[in-house]
Amino acid sequence: MIKAIDVLNPSASTETLTAEYERASRILGQAEVRTPFLLLERSKIRQNLKRLSHSLPRVAIHYAIKSNNHPAVLEEVARAGHRFDISSYQELLLAVEAGGHVREQIHSHPIKSPYEIIDAINAGVEIFVVDNPDEIDKFIPYAGKVRLMIRFKVENNDAVVNLSYKFGCLPSEVVGLAERIRMRGLDYYGLAFHVGSQCLSNDVYLKAVDIAADLIKELDCRGLETGILDIGGVFPVPYTEDVPPIEEFCKPIHARLEEKISHDIRLVCEPGRFISATAVTLVASVIGKSVRSGRRWYFLDDGLYGSFSGRLYDHCKYQILTNRNTTWKRSVLAGPTCDSFDVVYRDIILPPLEISDLLIFPAMGAYCAVSASSFNCLRKAEYLVVD
Ligand SMILES: Cc1ncc(COP(=O)(O)O)c(C=O)c1O
Repeated sequence: MIKAIDVLNPSASTETLTAEYERASRILGQAEVRTPFLLLERSKIRQNLKRLSHSLPRVAIHYAIKSNNHPAVLEEVARAGHRFDISSYQELLLAVEAGGHVREQIHSHPIKSPYEIIDAINAGVEIFVVDNPDEIDKFIPYAGKVRLMIRFKVENNDAVVNLSYKFGCLPSEVVGLAERIRMRGLDYYGLAFHVGSQCLSNDVYLKAVDIAADLIKELDCRGLETGILDIGGVFPVPYTEDVPPIEEFCKPIHARLEEKISHDIRLVCEPGRFISATAVTLVASVIGKSVRSGRRWYFLDDGLYGSFSGRLYDHCKYQILTNRNTTWKRSVLAGPTCDSFDVVYRDIILPPLEISDLLIFPAMGAYCAVSASSFNCLRKAEYLVVD
């Protein structure tokens, strides 16, 4: 038996990698499946939900649909009694189809088109997020029907994806915005923050909880009662870097919430990546090879325009498993489209691969398929759902 190897970390233990590799090869042999395909495991979604809710026992989970909107993922979330974070009316429809109740969902997009607001309110959504005066004023016609949360930003250099560049007011602007909500006859409901996606350190989380606690006190003094605090998503996933187990990562966050935030305030989080990433494995094949300027090039049947869109938009590096292990050389791993830009790894040490060889990419469930296109009319990777 040839052992499977993690290309980016060849010294890693091979037992589980080999099992993972063999399982994907077996599925390909048995079912009517072609590569590229995405193997989605429902049990992993359940497991991730359980681990996170045990790690943050006071915090309700609103799964961020944007990371992976496959119906099987949403069904597992709804079946386990959790709720959704939606960023559009279309995501709301998916949540409802999976068994979610409209009124319980949070529309967390800080900038919404008028149509988006009308459709969501007509459908029954009540909770919305704002971060500026103009967005607040869009809700004036809906006074009495909506509750508004204010998103503030927290600077963070330890997150892979910065979520404070585009959205979130300064903490110093929060009280003014809450006053404006009240003056416009609207309901101020609470606060939200996002410390940045794939956040590798929990220090900034603690800082954000401290800022929220101070703001809640100040708002309280002005008669603005906070009913909810949304602590965002951002829980990290072990792609190619070491990250602490979620239980360890969340321990100080739970302690700080206990210390600083009253039990009268409803706590929610909006995890996407942590729930969906490890539940999906991409299985792709080598469909072409050549040597260019002395360097080996391998062409895969999936690329940047497909499942590897996460390389671009999510700034993510995915683990690669192969069962070849001889004469490793600097190589290029390219996608299948005619665009020269479509290169997944430009400089990577690989063993010699043959056409039809399988490469397996674990943890590709978040921000991959959702941003894939069918450029060149090439088939997108299809999902194969197992328990
Ligand atoms: C408003 C909001 N909530 C939740 C998330 C989910 O973040 P993550 O997938 O890192 O958990 C994001 C990510 O972009 C977001 O913008």
